[in-house]
Amino acid sequence: MRISYFNLIMDKSNFHIRNYESSSKPQGEVSWRSPSNIALIKYWGKHGNQLPCNPSLSFSLKNSYTETNVRYAPAEEKKPALQYSFEGKHEVSFETKVKKFIKNIYEYFPFLKHTDLSISSHNTFPHSSGIASSASSMSALALCFCSIERQCFQSLQDEGDFYRKASFIARLGSGSASRSVYEGFSVWGENKLISNSSDLFAISLLSQRGDHFNKLKDYILLVDSRSKEISSTAGHALMKNHSFANARFEQAKENLDKILTAIEQDNWNDFADITENEALSLHAMMMTSNPSYILLKPNTLKIIDKIKQARKQKALSVCFTIDAGPNVHLIYPERESRKVRTFIEQELLIYCSDEKGIEDQMGKGPQQIK
Ligand code: DP6
Repeated sequence: MRISYFNLIMDKSNFHIRNYESSSKPQGEVSWRSPSNIALIKYWGKHGNQLPCNPSLSFSLKNSYTETNVRYAPAEEKKPALQYSFEGKHEVSFETKVKKFIKNIYEYFPFLKHTDLSISSHNTFPHSSGIASSASSMSALALCFCSIERQCFQSLQDEGDFYRKASFIARLGSGSASRSVYEGFSVWGENKLISNSSDLFAISLLSQRGDHFNKLKDYILLVDSRSKEISSTAGHALMKNHSFANARFEQAKENLDKILTAIEQDNWNDFADITENEALSLHAMMMTSNPSYILLKPNTLKIIDKIKQARKQKALSVCFTIDAGPNVHLIYPERESRKVRTFIEQELLIYCSDEKGIEDQMGKGPQQIK
């Protein structure tokens, strides 16, 4: 069966600037707001230059985003200068990451080699909350560079070309960031059911989807808001010599096929089973890697139990997903919001640090501010 998803993308993969004039001296300012996303089919394991070992599926969030402003001018010295501030403060660790990222993308934006950059960024969500800040920040930066290219070199005028290159560049900064440049659901990684899917960039699924999936909510239950025990990059590396690696990559591929069918056929129970299976498989990989990590906390398990019970006993359309940490994302259709709100308040918040959570939902994708 071939799923009739419509996507924006044509299969082109030349991301170099055509008609690039090295004598041009770009100058100006650009700003983008770009969302984080939550993966339902998890990217865990990569090879080569940021290529995924399996395809992944996520949806972009609405309230959790990064806003990035880039001011650019011809370099005053031979070596271009970079200034980076986060939440108004000079941030050395992220500046180092951004410098490395920019060097890696010179090939696609050669003007960066002789352009001074002043970048400032802020997030709408707290650090270490279980919301991926690398996805929103790297996609915001990629969108800014694509806008500079569009303004200064008259390329990327076609919307499909623009977002495909933004996704390709964002991927080089952080894999999950490739999925943040679209509204709603995105898929990153080759998949036989979706024509034009690619390991190089994500594509948007502007699909026919069942009623449950038009407006999904994501309520993040903050079990523990301390920093992550292991970075995602180190986590991906654990898959290199993992005994279950190949089986896991096959499982993710099969789960993607099944979840696409569940979304199209409006089948909440299948969707919930697959989403939860993905989250637990990701943690199973971490628990069985060498070294091993147990990132789930006792309260994470209590919340999982409550969510499973609510689905079975109260027929609530809820399910959970979890990234590489202890915090739980409660996923549900917007139309169930009133009932789910009561469930969260009465049964789940007691397991959260400071009895707190963050309410978010499927969003409309990135937005250019300037
Ligand atoms: C568990 O995209 O953060 O959130 O490519 O090394 O930056 P890097 O990794 P990253 O990994 C995300 C892993 C995940 C699952 C997912 O978002 O698909």
